[in-house]
Amino acid sequence: MRTTLSVIKADIGSVGGHIKPSAQVLKAVRDHIETQGKKKIIDHFISHTGDDIAILMTHTGGVGNEGIHKMAWDAFVTGTNVAKSQGLYGAGQDLLKDAFSGNVKGMGPAVAEMEIEERPNEPFLFFAADKTEPGAYNLPLFLGFADPMYCPGLMLSPSMAAGFKFVIMDVNNTEGDRIIELNSPEDSYDIAALLRDNGRFVVESIWSRHTGDQAASVSTSRLRNIAGKYTGKDDPVHLVRTQAQFPATGEILSPYSIGHYVAGTMRGSHNGPMMPCKQNTTISFFDGPAVVTCAAFCVHNGKLTEPADAFDHPFWDWVRGNVSQKAQEIRRQGFSGPAMLPYDDLEYGGIVDKMKKLDKKFKIREGEKTPVSV
Ligand code: F6R
Ligand code: MG
Ligand code: MG
Repeated sequence: MRTTLSVIKADIGSVGGHIKPSAQVLKAVRDHIETQGKKKIIDHFISHTGDDIAILMTHTGGVGNEGIHKMAWDAFVTGTNVAKSQGLYGAGQDLLKDAFSGNVKGMGPAVAEMEIEERPNEPFLFFAADKTEPGAYNLPLFLGFADPMYCPGLMLSPSMAAGFKFVIMDVNNTEGDRIIELNSPEDSYDIAALLRDNGRFVVESIWSRHTGDQAASVSTSRLRNIAGKYTGKDDPVHLVRTQAQFPATGEILSPYSIGHYVAGTMRGSHNGPMMPCKQNTTISFFDGPAVVTCAAFCVHNGKLTEPADAFDHPFWDWVRGNVSQKAQEIRRQGFSGPAMLPYDDLEYGGIVDKMKKLDKKFKIREGEKTPVSV
């Protein structure tokens, strides 16, 4: 059966700052999908990661389906009304356009979708991250799909020996989707050269070179590019199929034990480690740390199993302890050097005005020439 997996997520307001959506807002979104989705979708799963609500849906309508996107958009509009009535902070924050026009892409919500030919056994993972950007998945995806140090299946499994195709997007290009397709293993140094720049080059999808099947899909929206100013970090979602011709679930999860440094956290303007957390985790320390959650499913004829919470295991408690230490270590140096993002990446416009003002106050000392190096 051809099944479409669609996850659409948005921050439409949260309790106590940017911590989590309220129970009433979640209920409004859920009720909308349950009533309106009866004929449109086969199954759904609604969860939150920090202040973002994600609607995971299965259906047969293909990717970019207007009816599915409209239903999710309307669910977020309905939730926003409740958020406003409760005085939630940032109510409707990610709904950047007034009227729906065919597809939520470019309207604020993040989308990751895949149309798949269901295998008889179809495990997949749904990741959601808060207080960070889409490129936060670059490193775990590279290590999970292209590095035998993390994915021994690349050495051990004949069905993965051909490697994977990476489709990478230049998210700075606002005039259209600027993408490049590169194959691992032969292009893996080129892939790494792009993926080191999480703010600009983002893995959009990954494909098996053995079967041609799509393995992964990542949301690539940049809210700043849509709104023209900072309205919140992008907080990306991502779907990945696992096992057999794809990496095993544990191979995909293992790079998250690094707690690698990503851009985001307080005011979207700092570097901090990404912490793998349990489902429905909230945000706390320094509007962070950036969190990532993972719900593992199997799907059959579009019907979802109950989720397995992939980061709810004693091993990840130990990881979270280590990641907390990394978070505190970089935080101790405040604004200095790599703790805060470089000038061009700072999300708040205030600093630009400040620098302009200061620039005018600079002067060249009279009677002295700039030294010329020989
Ligand atoms: C990060 C984020 C928060 C806010 C911060 C200040 O993505 O959204 O860290 O930037 O709480 O929020 P405002 O400027 O709305 O008071
Ligand atoms: Mg928020
Ligand atoms: Mg968020």
